[in-house]
Amino acid sequence: MSQRVIVTGGSGGIGAAIVERFVADGAAVAVLDRRAPAGESASFFPVDLLDPLDTRRAVGEAIAALGGIDVLVNCAGIFQHASLLDITVDDWDRVLDINARATLVTMQAVAPVMLEARQGSIVNIASMAAKHGGGGEGHYAASKAAVVALTRAGAQEWGCHGITVNAVCPGYVLTDMGADTRSEADIAAWSAKSPLGRLGIPEDVAGVTHFLASPAGGYLTGQAINVTGGMIMH
Ligand SMILES: NC(=O)c1ccc[n+]([C@@H]2O[C@H](COP(=O)([O-])OP(=O)(O)OC[C@H]3O[C@@H](n4cnc5c(N)ncnc54)[C@H](O)[C@@H]3O)[C@@H](O)[C@H]2O)c1
Repeated sequence: MSQRVIVTGGSGGIGAAIVERFVADGAAVAVLDRRAPAGESASFFPVDLLDPLDTRRAVGEAIAALGGIDVLVNCAGIFQHASLLDITVDDWDRVLDINARATLVTMQAVAPVMLEARQGSIVNIASMAAKHGGGGEGHYAASKAAVVALTRAGAQEWGCHGITVNAVCPGYVLTDMGADTRSEADIAAWSAKSPLGRLGIPEDVAGVTHFLASPAGGYLTGQAINVTGGMIMH
């Protein structure tokens, strides 16, 4: 049977590539996002992930429409540049609520169905920042470290029920995220950090995400896989 997949943030750069990767494999995909996807290859469930009740509602509707769920990909996220002294409580709450709390809420919303079925894969898109968070993005790095911690907790609690939970840690991927502050000098500097000499593209992340939810990735759980072109190696 083809996989039934929910992708949060599936209308954005990396999320849209993840949707297309699963669709290419014959999967039925539901996108949960606050804006509609460009194409029509997936069904769309509008949601504001800042709102836990709305998030549970959207996940429930998506599962009902798909007739179950095999894969959850948490890809929605926001980024903001701010030095530690400039991060406001509101900034902190918004970044942590969307990146980390919504990941917990969607995991909680799909888990009963996966536990009942005794199978399922969850892939959380974290970031290189979870392991190597730099200055100017302390709240973002904290949110992604929280995503990795939630991933490990899910792997430990649900592995005995046949569910795998992994995280993917992209490096610098050319999408809308960060585009407003991106310069040619930034692109050159970040490209130079990779032994491969380039930034990531959404398809780099989509391929690894798909692998983790496939039988070939079935013995991986609790991992945080770097997709950084070697920018970090731990
Ligand atoms: N682009 C990068 O360099 C990079 C690097 C590491 C990790 N990541 C992570 O990859 C994921 C995808 O990033 P991207 O580059 O594709 O970003 P993007 O901005 O292109 O897409 C993010 C998507 O999330 C959705 N979203 C954001 N807030 C939402 C909310 N409150 N409710 C519903 N939907 C919401 C947006 O509408 C958008 O479609 C994010 O979790 C990001 O932190 C990105």
